[in-house]
Amino acid sequence: MKRVLVTGGAGYIGSHTIVELLNNGYAVTSIDNFSNSTSKTFDRIFKLTGKKVKNYNIDLSNHKKLESIFKDQEFDAIIHFAAFKAVGESVHEPLKYYDNNLGSLLGALKIAYNCNAQSIIYSSSATVYDQNEKTPFTEKSNLNPLSPYGMTKKIGEDILFDYFKNNSNLKILSLRYFNPAGAHPSILLGENPKGIPNNLIPIITKSLKEKKSFAVFGNTYKTPDKTCIRDYIHVVDVARAHISALKYLEKKEIRIYDVFNIGTGYGTSVLEIIKAFEKNNSVKLNYSIKGKRQGDVPILLANVKKAKKILSFKIKYTIDDIVKTAWEWEKKNLS
Ligand code: UFG
Repeated sequence: MKRVLVTGGAGYIGSHTIVELLNNGYAVTSIDNFSNSTSKTFDRIFKLTGKKVKNYNIDLSNHKKLESIFKDQEFDAIIHFAAFKAVGESVHEPLKYYDNNLGSLLGALKIAYNCNAQSIIYSSSATVYDQNEKTPFTEKSNLNPLSPYGMTKKIGEDILFDYFKNNSNLKILSLRYFNPAGAHPSILLGENPKGIPNNLIPIITKSLKEKKSFAVFGNTYKTPDKTCIRDYIHVVDVARAHISALKYLEKKEIRIYDVFNIGTGYGTSVLEIIKAFEKNNSVKLNYSIKGKRQGDVPILLANVKKAKKILSFKIKYTIDDIVKTAWEWEKKNLS
């Protein structure tokens, strides 16, 4: 059985990925200090899979402690999710982001080195691209992250590439996620942002639950309905992409560093999300059109040909699944 260490295992994408890993026969260990998640997630993973996951509640930036804990362990692969991810917050607290996101990546790499993990999968983001590049973005599109959060993701990719160049047997993939959304179909796992959510779909579910209004940022964009278009991908599909990535690395005889877009290739506008949400959940949303949000571009889509061809990755879930599971999860109110 292949042994995989997941960092940020109780987080949104981490927890969904652990379920897919366990269901595909991997043995999973996790590191999560619950800075933006809850330990109850592991009980729900057990409920879903019948399998227990050992979690180490430590900060990945605490490299000394990692050394003693993982002294005698071995892993085949590390999937590194643990990071702060609020774009807006990163602009106001850049050092917090550089400190945490880079410190935790270095911690994960030290574990990889000490525990002989030859495969590393890194959680990157579409936010690394130059947003003014022609969309859909391919993996060769120019990079130019605007926020400190985006910079930490890009620097993370650079660190991995430098590390790769000096290592004779490493296999590393950076996965650039577009807009992950939705919850597990069992409604046992989902996104649980502490404080005010940052992204459209959790903002919609939270405002509906609290009977409040939310803002549509701008309706004068050059798109068919004049609102922004994004590439929303169901979180279980994002999780499944990691299984495709691992299986690809397992087959690969030689060392490799590569980058993949993880999206659907389909665009959905803000108004289309609202319509799909209302139709699928039989609700009426309360929103008003407000001014454009600084930094938003009209259309942001993934070119997903590379992941399809090389990782054999195909999506399973639709926008309808995203909005249905997101609302079911919010109503269930698991914390
Ligand atoms: N939007 C609203 N109202 C809101 C929030 C968002 O109209 O209250 C709109 C935005 O203007 C945008 C769309 O909904 O057009 C999606 O916005 P999100 O904030 O959910 O997502 P972004 O596309 O801005 O950014 C997200 C992640 C980034 C990631 C990026 C990659 O937050 O980390 O996707 O495409 F890098």
